[in-house]
Amino acid sequence: MCGIVGYIGDNNVSEILLKGLDNLKYRGYDSAGIALFNNNQIEIYKSVGKLENLKNKMSKIVSETKDSLFGIGHIRWATHGVANEVNAHPHISSNKDIVVVHNGIIENYKELKENLIEKGYSFASQTDTEVIANLISDEYKYALNLKDAVRNALPKLKGAYAICVMCKNESDKFVVARKHAPLIIGVGNNENIVASDLPAIIAITSDVIYLNDEEIAVIKKDSVEIESVDGSLIPLKIVKISMEVDAVSKMGYKHYMLKEINEQPNIVRNLLNGRISDVNAKIKLDEIKIPLDILRNLSKIQIIACGTSLHAGLVGKYLIEDLASVPVEVEPASEYIYRNNTTDANSLVIAISQSGETADTLTAVRQAREKGAYIVVITNRPDSNITRYSDSILNVNAGIEVSVAATKSYTAQLLMLYLFAIYFAEVKGKSDDRISLIKEELLSIPTKMEEILSDDSNIESVADKLSKFKNFIYIGRGVNLPTAMEGALKLKEVSYINANAYPAGELKHGPIALLDEDVPIVSVLIPGYITYDKIIANCEEAKARNAKLITVTSSEDEKLKNLFDVIVKIPSVSDLLSPLLSVIPFQLFAYHISNFLGKDVDQPRNLAKSVTVE
Ligand code: F6R
Repeated sequence: MCGIVGYIGDNNVSEILLKGLDNLKYRGYDSAGIALFNNNQIEIYKSVGKLENLKNKMSKIVSETKDSLFGIGHIRWATHGVANEVNAHPHISSNKDIVVVHNGIIENYKELKENLIEKGYSFASQTDTEVIANLISDEYKYALNLKDAVRNALPKLKGAYAICVMCKNESDKFVVARKHAPLIIGVGNNENIVASDLPAIIAITSDVIYLNDEEIAVIKKDSVEIESVDGSLIPLKIVKISMEVDAVSKMGYKHYMLKEINEQPNIVRNLLNGRISDVNAKIKLDEIKIPLDILRNLSKIQIIACGTSLHAGLVGKYLIEDLASVPVEVEPASEYIYRNNTTDANSLVIAISQSGETADTLTAVRQAREKGAYIVVITNRPDSNITRYSDSILNVNAGIEVSVAATKSYTAQLLMLYLFAIYFAEVKGKSDDRISLIKEELLSIPTKMEEILSDDSNIESVADKLSKFKNFIYIGRGVNLPTAMEGALKLKEVSYINANAYPAGELKHGPIALLDEDVPIVSVLIPGYITYDKIIANCEEAKARNAKLITVTSSEDEKLKNLFDVIVKIPSVSDLLSPLLSVIPFQLFAYHISNFLGKDVDQPRNLAKSVTVE
């Protein structure tokens, strides 16, 4: 996924573009570039690697660029062609008249490219974006104005795009358009800005317009005009956003990941607020718009998601099956979309996506929608693409997550799944004392999270010692098997250490062959669940192979001290609610190891915040 930004106004254009890109860094970061309309021509600057490289380049030519009238910028995460300066955006047409930045994928770019080559256009890069530049340039020959050239080019593009386009002959505007990729217009006072996401906009204005699919906007310094692809004028719908500029600051933390881990208690507190007022009253989840008789008679639920969101979905399965006794299938979206799945018009599909832009999940939801299924979307971005295919949107309201590794969005997704499972159980007439107790315990979770976070020095010091290992095995059972999977994923992502997760009972069926003093076993141990003793037995088997044992536990059992090398205590919690707490030490463990090893914690290599390719 990439980030795009465009600015027109009296302020320093390159500074604003670079600042905007800085706030979109989490979307992709293998190269960056900007194009400036300066001295009646378009100048393009690009750098490979971190945005700092482009900033350094630009800082040397401040006096040459300070009077630019407008510009567009891009931060890239390579999809078509390796990360180098030629493939970095902006891309210019071979006629040198049209310059484009693009987020998304053009599926038919090869055919278009062949066509354009036959017409005499040439290509320098391996990207699909250069095709857009040449295509618009070709249309410009006939339309003779940028807006119409863009409009005529768009129907020829198959796939997803958000584009900003400038033309060397038009010194007062740039043009933007989108389809299946986000684009937001910030309307300022004698200045306007566009970007893929709000963080790039909030420093300029809080008045925004969410551009819809197949709409084109002409952005001038003092006006914004929107038209649909068929040419009809669209009234401007400006909304005020409440996001603080702080939403993308580190607030004194060394990394966003640590800041975001520490935000979890308040996010959970806010999500509970107003939903559970009296533990004996039914839970409020007004966002669910599916008729109650449909919900009551559902014979199955399907959950689709990717990565960390998929792990949240796996916890959701335990919750829904336990509390509402309805079977739940959980599947990676990338698998669901390529098989004859059983979704039909009687199905309820829950799609979970922090970003709401993950290509596999979007395709899955579109497919499920086409089959007539009811769709509930759990997301942190109610303004994202996925919500356009949903009947009900459960906004987890975790605030912008900048660190590429998902932490706070995971616990917020979990909390939403607890609320949904209880709501669903109550709709099915299953409210009883147990559900009241669960609600009561949910209300205590934020304080217990704070207890874990108040002192992570123990985790920091073990992370330091354990960072020398090259392989870890995480084990869990029941509702904490997904916690083990999430713990292993976090460690892999931010520290590049191999970590695999298994159901603890599966250890003896193969993975045990890996064990020796070089492969630590990391477990979750919650007393009260039927497998507590079994997990201890699994750990003993590992100890007998000299593996180091680390556990996250709420147990007070002194005997554990003899078995485990490292015990990380969490507050007492029931097994069912424990995933909300047990994952936090795993997040901190991954964070501290990554930090200790000097890795790029917030922007791990090869990863981007939303994966907008299938
Ligand atoms: C892990 C992580 C990824 C995402 C996955 C799905 O830390 O961030 O595994 O969870 O790419 O992303 P969303 O939830 O945006 O659909």
